[in-house]
Amino acid sequence: MPPVYVVILAAGEGTRMRSDTPKLLHRVAGRPIVEHVVGAARELDPANIALVVPPDHSRIRDALNDAALRFAVQDPARGTGDAAACGLAATFPDGDHAGLVLVINGDCVGIRSRTLRAMIESHGDAAGTFLTVSLDDPTGYGRIIRSPAGVLERIVEEADADAEERALREVNAGVYLFAAAALRDALTALRPDNSQAEFYLTDTLQVLSSQAGSVELFHHDDADEVHGVNTRSELARAEAILQHRKLDELMEAGVTLRNAEAVCADVNVRVGNDTVIYPGVTLEAGTVVGRRCTIYPNVRISASEIGDDVILYDGSVLENAVVESGASVGPYARLRPGTRICEGAKVGNFVEVKQTTLGPGSKAGHLAYLGDAEIGADVNVGAGTITCNYDGVNKHRTLIGDGAFIGSNTAIVAPVRIGRGAYVGAGSTITKDVPDHSLGIARGRQVVHEGWAKRARAARRGDQD
Ligand code: UD1
Ligand code: MG
Repeated sequence: MPPVYVVILAAGEGTRMRSDTPKLLHRVAGRPIVEHVVGAARELDPANIALVVPPDHSRIRDALNDAALRFAVQDPARGTGDAAACGLAATFPDGDHAGLVLVINGDCVGIRSRTLRAMIESHGDAAGTFLTVSLDDPTGYGRIIRSPAGVLERIVEEADADAEERALREVNAGVYLFAAAALRDALTALRPDNSQAEFYLTDTLQVLSSQAGSVELFHHDDADEVHGVNTRSELARAEAILQHRKLDELMEAGVTLRNAEAVCADVNVRVGNDTVIYPGVTLEAGTVVGRRCTIYPNVRISASEIGDDVILYDGSVLENAVVESGASVGPYARLRPGTRICEGAKVGNFVEVKQTTLGPGSKAGHLAYLGDAEIGADVNVGAGTITCNYDGVNKHRTLIGDGAFIGSNTAIVAPVRIGRGAYVGAGSTITKDVPDHSLGIARGRQVVHEGWAKRARAARRGDQD
């Protein structure tokens, strides 16, 4: 098998998106469109991947962050044929066009590496192999035109097609395999004589079949794989396609989705078997969920690690957090970056946690803010506890030892340490360390004036004693 070089076309203006963001940086299933395509190409382990990009491509380069990719600038964008020529020049700087070139439209977001591989295997010694699908609604795609005798003739773009041609359902997918030298020669023969005055890569079909020999069509059954993204509604459709694929994969792995239509999961999310997910849950990039967890409605988890047997109650938000096995969180809790909820610990309703470890078996059941704190095992954090971690300039840490009991409505003014097994009286404002096994209490003493209320009411009514 000759070496395979990949060229991904990513320099188009994407005007139909009406966006300030380059088209291929729009995200689908949590990942920029172009990264999906680069990912599929990478799995082929090709000799090289070149990306054809516009002059201001720093955002694309940053998003991909891969030093092994070669970038070829196309300036100005004069069509897919011109883009392929730029990619080819960057791929073969020495001019020795040996091997095969796989050209993929950068907006072909759903393409799978196994399809690319099958295409490569079927190529034989053809000059070109073009991927095609048949669509019920082919609007927007280039149509495959054959002669009355069935001989492959050319590809006609939607804008250049007449009514009869538009009725054809077999379309060009925007994925092509070429013998590199044949492609180089065919590209030099392209002319921008079409309604968009662009160099069309698709015109190579005609050129190659008349010069270099055979062009084969590789007909594929899965239309979803070749869905191109040009508009917001095609973007929404791409999201639906990749979500469907991802959720199928999770169900295949033993995850129960109570309403599969209403769950969102980014491509690289992993979930263990026998976990049950309720509607409205969003699992964002980098999230790993263990086995036998329950995730109730409207939970959003981003880049977090969830152990086994965890319960995440309704409406909670977790970002860059770790929740160890057997813990529970929420409803309506917020775990911000740097949070670790250790084994069997409980974070209850309306609790916010940041840069804090809540030790094994510890509980913060209600209405608390725990920031920059190191909390040991089996600690009880009372309702309304606040770590006052910020003095207006710096953040300070709170240390709470194993087995401590923090009474409700306590303000803990950091830096401060509450010792092992210590008690803090409810309503305290703690500004000094509380030693191990001691009681810290810092609140106004209660005064009782017996009968005061009765007398005051009587005085208001003007009663005489
Ligand atoms: C293209 C095909 C069409 C096919 C469809 C499949 C051509 C002429 N038409 O149409 O037959 O059915 O894809 O989705 O190829 N690009 C550049 N430089 C340019 C122009 C485009 O790099 O000058 C890139 C774009 O960023 C995009 C890809 O090439 O990733 C395809 O361009 P696009 O404008 O999306 O072509 P379509 O109109 O979708
Ligand atoms: Mg397109």
